[in-house]
Amino acid sequence: MVGKKCFLSPIFLEDAEKITAYLNDLEVTNTLQIATKNISLFQEKEILPKLVKEHNYAIVDLQTEKLLGICGFNDYNAIHRNCEIGLFIGNKDYWGKGYGEEAMCLLMDYGFRFLNLRNIMLRLYDFNNRGLKCYKKIGFKEIGRRRKAVMRNMQEADEIYMDILSEEFYKAKKKT
Ligand SMILES: CC(C)(COP(=O)(O)OP(=O)(O)OC[C@H]1O[C@@H](n2cnc3c(N)ncnc32)[C@H](O)[C@@H]1OP(=O)(O)O)[C@@H](O)C(=O)NCCC(=O)NCCS
Repeated sequence: MVGKKCFLSPIFLEDAEKITAYLNDLEVTNTLQIATKNISLFQEKEILPKLVKEHNYAIVDLQTEKLLGICGFNDYNAIHRNCEIGLFIGNKDYWGKGYGEEAMCLLMDYGFRFLNLRNIMLRLYDFNNRGLKCYKKIGFKEIGRRRKAVMRNMQEADEIYMDILSEEFYKAKKKT
């Protein structure tokens, strides 16, 4: 899956060190559930082989071939044709430059065309303004929120649920 800025590649075991470093950066994980977990290189090396068997991919910068982050589908349901999408860009120099949008679009296009998906959902914390803007650009719409379900930085926050259908995705893509 190749875009203009990045491509999605299988994750390699050798990527474990970089991924572990990203997942131990609290600035990166502030908007992720994983901020409350202790991620060691040892654990990451155990988890990666399981992750690569499912639809999880490395986000790689097209120009430099640097590993920027990970994206993937969780809870893929082939009967109901739905799943949840998640991602992080661990290299903060690349935030706000359209990499997240492009990586998601590449994965979603693959999901709709090859995995036969119909509905893709995501969850985010209400203070994740960059994420919210990114997802709205793609065409995701809020379908609800779990109120005060998150405690982060000694503050209560809502968890926002958003989803998109295949036709909405391709309609939004045509406009860009
Ligand atoms: C959320 C994330 C995946 C978005 O990827 P990204 O590459 O940074 O996003 P994009 O550049 O495609 O889109 C972000 C948009 O928000 C804007 N933006 C950047 N910083 C912002 C901020 N602090 N507040 C509001 N908008 C912001 C950008 O300008 C851009 O809009 P534009 O294209 O109209 O200029 C990425 O920032 C990230 O991994 N963050 C840490 C982990 C995380 O939150 N993961 C998602 C959990 S749901």
